[in-house]
Amino acid sequence: MKNILVTGGLGYIGSHTVVALQKAGYRVLIIDDLSNTQISVLGHIATITGVEPDLHIIDLKDQEATNHFFSTNAIDGIIHFAAYKAVGESVEKPLMYYRNNLSGLINLLEAMEKYHTDHFIFSSSCTVYGQADQMPIDEQTPLKRPEAPYGKTKHMGEEIIFDFTNAAAKNAIALRYFNPVGAHTSALIGELPNGIPNNLIPYISQTAAGIRKRLGVFGNDYETRDGTAIRDYIDVNDLADAHVKALNRLLNKENKSSLEYFNLGSGTGSTVLEMIQAFEKANNLKIPYEIKERRAGDIQEAYADYTLAKKELNWQPKIDLETSMKTAWNFEKRIKE
Ligand code: WQD
Repeated sequence: MKNILVTGGLGYIGSHTVVALQKAGYRVLIIDDLSNTQISVLGHIATITGVEPDLHIIDLKDQEATNHFFSTNAIDGIIHFAAYKAVGESVEKPLMYYRNNLSGLINLLEAMEKYHTDHFIFSSSCTVYGQADQMPIDEQTPLKRPEAPYGKTKHMGEEIIFDFTNAAAKNAIALRYFNPVGAHTSALIGELPNGIPNNLIPYISQTAAGIRKRLGVFGNDYETRDGTAIRDYIDVNDLADAHVKALNRLLNKENKSSLEYFNLGSGTGSTVLEMIQAFEKANNLKIPYEIKERRAGDIQEAYADYTLAKKELNWQPKIDLETSMKTAWNFEKRIKE
């Protein structure tokens, strides 16, 4: 049984990926500093799969603790989620984001080299494309300077990994997610709120739950079919499946270069108003909202061409938007209990 380290494994995408890895027969070890999650997620994962992952509460900025973990655990592959991810917060506190997201990554890569782990999956983001000139966005689309430090840490992370895998003869895959939504069908794991939600769907589900008075729609003067911005919303369980497929590709030495990039999206763009309607229809409720000013740093439109992931990873999105809106709402209702 191969040992897979999942950093940030108690987080939103991380916990769903841990479940998928365990179901695929891997032994999962988690490193998480608990800065943006709750320890109860560990028990929920165990309830879903019947196996409690091996949790190590470590801050990856602590190089000694990171190295000690690798000196006492033989790791065959790493899936690296652990990073700060609030776009707005990254604008206010750039150095906190650069230190956490980049020095954590570098400590991990140094440990990989020192302790002979050869395979690495990186949680990247479509934000590296900025506002692309044409849609849909594929992996050949030129990268643009992300607006926020959060996005820059993803772009810089990819560059660091590119140079490292070349120099150290390691193999890596960067998965560029579009907008993750939804929750596990059990409603035991999902996108746990941490203060006022930055992302659209958690804000909508908290509005439906009465935690928020109404949703603010950030701008309706974009050049889109209804004036609100377009994104590609992809179910978190589909994303988890892609991580298992990417890991298998590396472990089976099927990769064609030392660092490969794959876009993970549904291939469909939805406006903010369409997402409100989708949530309302799926859950038979109304979401009060008001139109507000555009949010600084937002782009107008992004949706994916996932042809490469389909061809090379044999992956495609399977969960439709209505289902994602239902699981998101079921999770919100469960955590309110
Ligand atoms: C989606 C749309 C908003 C909240 C970011 C990161 C990305 C990924 C997901 C981190 C936009 C609008 C939102 C609200 C709104 N990683 N919106 N009212 O900004 O596309 O992507 O989060 O988790 O890397 O860049 O996601 O969900 O914040 O916004 O109108 O209260 O919803 O303007 O058009 P975003 P989002």
